[in-house]
Amino acid sequence: IKHIGVFTSGGDSPGMNAALYAITKCAEVNEIKVSGFRKGYEGLIDGDLIPLKSHDLQKLVHQGGTILKTARSERFMTLQGREKALQTLRKAHVDALIAIGGDGTFKGLLAFSEICDIPFIGIPGTIDNDLAGTDYTLGFDSAVNTAIENIDKIRDTAESHNRVFIVEVMGRDSGYIGIHSGLVVGANGILIPESTQDLHLLLEKVKNYHSEDAFLIVVSEGDETGTDLVASKIKEVNPDIDLRITRLGHVQRGGHPSAFDRMLGIRLGAASIDVLLRGSENVMVGLYNNMICTTPFQNVVKQHHIDEELQDLLKVFGS
Ligand code: F6P
Repeated sequence: IKHIGVFTSGGDSPGMNAALYAITKCAEVNEIKVSGFRKGYEGLIDGDLIPLKSHDLQKLVHQGGTILKTARSERFMTLQGREKALQTLRKAHVDALIAIGGDGTFKGLLAFSEICDIPFIGIPGTIDNDLAGTDYTLGFDSAVNTAIENIDKIRDTAESHNRVFIVEVMGRDSGYIGIHSGLVVGANGILIPESTQDLHLLLEKVKNYHSEDAFLIVVSEGDETGTDLVASKIKEVNPDIDLRITRLGHVQRGGHPSAFDRMLGIRLGAASIDVLLRGSENVMVGLYNNMICTTPFQNVVKQHHIDEELQDLLKVFGS
């Protein structure tokens, strides 16, 4: 392997730049050239690539987002788009591809592997932590830290006014950010898509709430009831409640990566080069029990389920 292409795709996540640094550094050590495709699959289709040097990336490890930019590409979902991307790779003499992204990215790689025979390696990069084959995805820890920093602030005002607050956190269909942030801020209620019974318990609790305190409810955006309906149900059972809603939104995607995510980026970036040079292809590198592991793409896109221990904690602390 003489020339590796790399890109970031889907939603950006803190730690992506650390992974780019590690990929480039480890490639250089092995005398491999690295090119970065800009804006995810869009850059592959359009041949928008730039040379990457570890010297430049070294000072960007602390930076959130992705210096390669990212996109969710409609065009790559078509065979025509993928054929154009294949031409780009041939023209640029790229002989291996590393992608950093979430489940959409891996689905794209799977489809691409049907027409392109160069090896692909994936790195899990999404704040949602919803991929099988790794305990943690890049950016999840930073997003949880951002969420808790903001929910702690909300608690200050909620306590001052004795208000009920619903704080909506991201995660798409996954409740990972919700359960982690809800547990560590001491939320009175935590609603996530993976658990269907809590709303009833929460309404029971809120029915008897008499405004002597703050009452914080963390709701994952993918929760089946949804923030607005939860709010109106609360008002129904207890009309006197002074209720506010805060949607944390994209703030959870930004900011400096945490130490954990920087380290994860470095480890997974280095591992991607390592497994590639050992002959692996069409696998995602991940961290399982704090050890590097690889998982075939087709197994990655099955959602990562919240394990039983956390579900049990939710029953105790979230009810
Ligand atoms: O997948 C990451 C994520 O931030 C989800 O948590 C959220 O549902 C989605 O992306 C938001 O997507 P967009 O940035 O396209 O609005």
